[in-house]
Amino acid sequence: MRNKALLFSLFAAGVLFSCQNNNSAKNNMEEEKETTAQWVNDPHTYADPNEAVVTHLNWDAVVDFENKKISATANWDIQTSPKAEKIIFDTYGLDIKDVKVDGKPADHSFGDFDQEMGKPMMIVISPGAKQVSITYETTEQARALQWLAPEQTAGKKMPFLFTQSQAILARTWIPTQDSPGIRFTYKAKVQVPDSMIALMSAENPKGKNTSGQYSFNMPQPVPSYLMALAVGDVAFEPVSDRTGVYAEPSVLDKAVYEFTDLEKMVQAAEGLYGPYAWGQYDIIVLPPSFPFGGMENPRLTFATPTILAGDRSLVALVAHELAHSWSGNLVTNATWNDFWLNEGFTVYFEQRIMEEVYGRDYSEMLASLTRNALIRDAAEIGKENPEDTKLKLNLEGRNPDEGVTSIPYDKGYFFLRLIEETVGREKFDTFLKKYFETYKFKVMTTEGFIDYMAENLLTEEQQKEIKLNEWIYSPGIPDNLPVVKSERFVAVDQAMESFIENGSLPAKEITDRWTTHEWLHFINSLPRTVDIQKLAALDQAYNLTNTGNSEIAAAWFQPAIRNGYAPANSRIENFLVNVGRRKFLTPTYKALLDNDQREMAMGIYEKARPNYHAVSRETMDELLGYSEE
Ligand code: BES
Ligand code: ZN
Repeated sequence: MRNKALLFSLFAAGVLFSCQNNNSAKNNMEEEKETTAQWVNDPHTYADPNEAVVTHLNWDAVVDFENKKISATANWDIQTSPKAEKIIFDTYGLDIKDVKVDGKPADHSFGDFDQEMGKPMMIVISPGAKQVSITYETTEQARALQWLAPEQTAGKKMPFLFTQSQAILARTWIPTQDSPGIRFTYKAKVQVPDSMIALMSAENPKGKNTSGQYSFNMPQPVPSYLMALAVGDVAFEPVSDRTGVYAEPSVLDKAVYEFTDLEKMVQAAEGLYGPYAWGQYDIIVLPPSFPFGGMENPRLTFATPTILAGDRSLVALVAHELAHSWSGNLVTNATWNDFWLNEGFTVYFEQRIMEEVYGRDYSEMLASLTRNALIRDAAEIGKENPEDTKLKLNLEGRNPDEGVTSIPYDKGYFFLRLIEETVGREKFDTFLKKYFETYKFKVMTTEGFIDYMAENLLTEEQQKEIKLNEWIYSPGIPDNLPVVKSERFVAVDQAMESFIENGSLPAKEITDRWTTHEWLHFINSLPRTVDIQKLAALDQAYNLTNTGNSEIAAAWFQPAIRNGYAPANSRIENFLVNVGRRKFLTPTYKALLDNDQREMAMGIYEKARPNYHAVSRETMDELLGYSEE
């Protein structure tokens, strides 16, 4: 009986029932015949939820800007197997002060430290233990946290803190079972300086209070990579009765203007794949050092200010993070090897939202840019690491961050688009809606998804026809990559042709109607070598170097660097020093290195590095061969 209750709760906690278990060494319940609860082995956690698993967190924290640390108690509700002797947590650089089990001091020990995984913490328990309470402080090893000085914010007056937990950095600020397959609900109490507000991936306050004490509730279970906290001088403005925007006061109006279509997007998403499961959908615009474009923290997407173009042209990113509310946050990749299930689905869903809200000819421009980028990137990754061009990745023993490439995103997208084109949109939509409904608050493996498709969507013939196995398990891009036809880009191609042939600039009447995406296509289509005079003419006519659009600027840096177009240099430097978004940093530094500008790259990096979040810093250190003396 007890065992049955446990099985149910493991299920509720998000531990997958599945037949492909290869984890028997870890599985303490294996003799118990009726056991079907099996956990998909996740190489990036030390936790063994079959023995003991967390179900709910009460987090009580003080944010100390002066000492740049969080002091906290993580009070975990747990569930144990009948033979449990210990519960294992992931920790990384945490200073553990005190450990209690059901209110009494408990023995605990640590395993060896691993540079990527951190240290397992084993806490002695007996079967039936209910609560584990861990008091601790974060250290400067907390790679999830970025403590910003006032100068790094828009307001320049108050410091700022934000977290980035995905993929395995939650353990650097909370002792947790840090696997996408382990979900828990949470409540939190967070004390911050009284002039600031705290926000989490939970039900959030709509404004500051005078005490600096904030309470949070997250009633839906989430995996720890979705734990998030932001603290700063931030205000809120609603967009609709269930969507809104948080930003520093001086950025708020611009942000609200940019995100006017938020409610439309949520409605489009719901129309496609079912009700939004998380209540409120808000976005917080962070300072520019945020290392990503966006992060799908439930109820509160974290976003880079570099999408505030002033003309709403970069809101596909919002559609993307919103889409994760289904793909990723509801149905979650079982391990980081299945990352394409999070990101490929999300790019597909993002495209569909964009098509719904802005029309097919608009969304096909996005698809075309994506396709070109995929072909470029796959070739590049394939040279060094062909294995990493498979949809199903093998990241064991590596930092899962290494799997964050165009492959899971864009190869994943085109694989799903191929399936849509094969079975027809209507059928595919019905299938996807049911998929999200069936697996909500659970995990999915690549194999589980293939099986589900075989049962519910694709005949054996169709699986062969689309080359399903090749898409998922072979490197490179299969020859049936869907083709994208963008009429609007055909016009851009023509403009490019005459520019190359006779240097004639595309006419103002034409470019006045161009969106950001036409410009990106135009710039990306420039030949490898272009006369500096021609670049100067373009720059003069269309103000490319000093554009306020971050995507256009970053694209423009490529031909500028390739061809030694010096007038762009100071803008490049300024951009790299102020923006920490890795997607822009990597190609720009790379272009400098590839074009004999190592000295310039290193000079800029010396200045810029202190501004970067650890996630970007680690990638750039490696790219530039930088080491701190
Ligand atoms: N979840 C990702 C960001 C991420 C992935 C962080 C892996 C850490 C590890 C987020 O949804 C994302 O994909 N962001 C993109 C947005 C883009 C594809 C629209 C980004 O940041 O550029
Ligand atoms: Zn994403």
